[in-house]
Amino acid sequence: MKSSRPKHLHQPVDSSEGDVNLSPERQKWINSLDSATRKLLDQDAEFFLHQSLSTPCLDVLTQARGSGFTDLNSKTFLDFHGNSAHQVGHAHPKVIEAVKAQLDTLAFCPRRFTNEPAIRLAEKLVSLAPGDLGKVLFAPGGTSAVGMALKLARMATGRFKTISMWDSFHGASLDAISLGGEALFRNQIGPLLPGTEHVPPAEPYRCMWNPDGSCESCDLRCAKYIEYVLEREGDVAAVVAEPFRCTTINIPPQGYWPYVRKACDKHGALLVFDETALCLGRAGTMFAFENFGVVPDIVTLGKGLGGGVFPLAAIVARKDLDIAPHVALGHYTHEKNPTACAAGLAAIEVIEQEGLLARARVLGRETLGKLAALGDKHPCVGQARGLGLAMGLEIVQERHPSEPDPARAERILYSCLKQGLSFKVSGGSCLTLTPPLTLSGQDMDLALAILEQAVIDTENTA
Ligand SMILES: Cc1ncc(COP(=O)(O)O)c(C=O)c1O
Repeated sequence: MKSSRPKHLHQPVDSSEGDVNLSPERQKWINSLDSATRKLLDQDAEFFLHQSLSTPCLDVLTQARGSGFTDLNSKTFLDFHGNSAHQVGHAHPKVIEAVKAQLDTLAFCPRRFTNEPAIRLAEKLVSLAPGDLGKVLFAPGGTSAVGMALKLARMATGRFKTISMWDSFHGASLDAISLGGEALFRNQIGPLLPGTEHVPPAEPYRCMWNPDGSCESCDLRCAKYIEYVLEREGDVAAVVAEPFRCTTINIPPQGYWPYVRKACDKHGALLVFDETALCLGRAGTMFAFENFGVVPDIVTLGKGLGGGVFPLAAIVARKDLDIAPHVALGHYTHEKNPTACAAGLAAIEVIEQEGLLARARVLGRETLGKLAALGDKHPCVGQARGLGLAMGLEIVQERHPSEPDPARAERILYSCLKQGLSFKVSGGSCLTLTPPLTLSGQDMDLALAILEQAVIDTENTA
């Protein structure tokens, strides 16, 4: 029987986590592909459920190594997207070696047993984490780690309400989209978790409180709003947020997190940082929150924690939150997968041995300068912002530079893809640039040259 799509499910949302896969530019891109690639894409679209940001797909890959990947036609791309899982690049030899060695001995560990790679990785995370963060649970993905953090916050406080941010993303499951603030995930999907309050994010660029002023002049109104909700509700279990938004790279003003931390303490709520995408060096520090002078009660880690090759995530919680031995917080089949943990240990070793934290800070700073210089030359290039190698570049309307230009952002993306540079567009008009921390200076320059050429291409066709 043929099924037809209900009428209410037709409208794609164009301002979200990533660029959507139903745009006119996507269609042009697909039309330009060779027949062998299109045949595989058609098969992919035949067998996989279609969903936003994924199937139908862009291209077919055959190899991923170092800073890039290769498609069916041997075309190479620099990967400035990588789902933010490629801090150490693709298939880092040390990660692959550790995985192969682990596969040869203990590839899997059934529940009720433990294994050395899992213990060593938990020990390593605790040794890296500041403050009282001293207890770990693993999960097969960031969404599940966020779910575990929510459960632990409920158990620890005896409360269930949360405060999270509009426009945020914490995973695609029903509990995580209840926390999240993106229409693309929340709309048309039915009732969400009760008690998930939302507040506007700190967004120094295009601040809704103070559009024409600086963060200093509005005196942290966004942080005060969180305190207001904490006080009015009076029974909030946790404030859950990324230290800064990993897609649109909205970096809160100085003083924001210390203010929120204090407010949480005052009102008995936990502070939970979701560092699924920002942990392990992306922001130039092992934990992104180290940039903000606060320590959360629970932090979630993911993506690059599996070395870019295994699904692995974790929570690291305050040691004294070990209060729920009678409850299954994260009853996951791959809870202590030794192969995933071996990959994670190897990845952290690479980050330390190759000095990737400092590398992210230095290369990030240099690159931000070059991105800002692009803006001086091209009126459609707006603010460049970033921390470490989490960088965002706004694409704006030439005649109205305070207005976003999503159509042009999309054209720049596809022009870059054509030239061999992959990244995503977030929030409609922000080019999200998250290269591997191992990227060479030469490859960064190549990526910037591609980006500038793409900007010029759109100027010529405007
Ligand atoms: C901030 C954040 N939290 C949670 C998740 C979900 O992680 P996963 O896809 O591993 O479940 C993501 C994924 O993009 C994320 O960026």
